[in-house]
Amino acid sequence: MKPLELLLLDCSPRRDNSTSRHLTNQLLPALTHRFGRPVHVTQRHLGVKPVPAITAEYADSLVLPAEEARARFGNQLAVSDELIRELDAAEVVWISTPVHNFTVPAVLKNWIDHVVRRDVTFVTKDNRKVGLLRDRPVYVAVTAGGAMFREPAIQPDFFRPYLTAVLGVIGLKDITYLPSTSLAGVDAPLELVQTHASRHLAAAALQI
Ligand SMILES: Cc1cc2nc3c(=O)[nH]c(=O)nc-3n(C[C@H](O)[C@H](O)[C@H](O)COP(=O)(O)O)c2cc1C
Repeated sequence: MKPLELLLLDCSPRRDNSTSRHLTNQLLPALTHRFGRPVHVTQRHLGVKPVPAITAEYADSLVLPAEEARARFGNQLAVSDELIRELDAAEVVWISTPVHNFTVPAVLKNWIDHVVRRDVTFVTKDNRKVGLLRDRPVYVAVTAGGAMFREPAIQPDFFRPYLTAVLGVIGLKDITYLPSTSLAGVDAPLELVQTHASRHLAAAALQI
């Protein structure tokens, strides 16, 4: 059986004891059951090995028609080309990430800046951005030290509205958030993550 191609973006800077990676490790195996196929994972450790920051040439290329951008800056667009190819080859995207300062970590924002590309992953029509990638499921296993994602809000949530909006620009609209929060100050954060993971596994999001 052809495996399900999954792109995993691991955004924690931690090498060991990352709460978001632990959450992912608890939840991701459920996808085999959910999709009825083995999962083949292509992994980017953005937190430990970030992609390079965007360059002046890349910024300039975004305001040119695609053909002209490629003619002038072709080689300098290689990182973006590779990340977009990798994203487009994935049938499912899994983002494993902490909240940093109420939003996505800088390393994830940097990846986003490389893949949200005019005339490649979106076009502008009538002053609106329209995505060019086919939609596919995106799972976001997200951990936070504090009480993020509470109603009424205790901390402002620039994480979910931002990520939903920016992935929507390139056509990715099927997004499932799997949070584990209030991990700071507890004696055994990884155990608490495990409890939250069990709740997600029992809920509808990861079931067939
Ligand atoms: C730079 C930085 C900023 C953070 N900002 C927030 C925040 O705004 N809200 C919050 O609840 N936790 C915040 N945290 C805590 C992390 O979200 C929390 O420790 C998380 O469990 C880390 O995940 P990891 O172990 O996978 O890296 C921040 C941590 C760091 C290092």
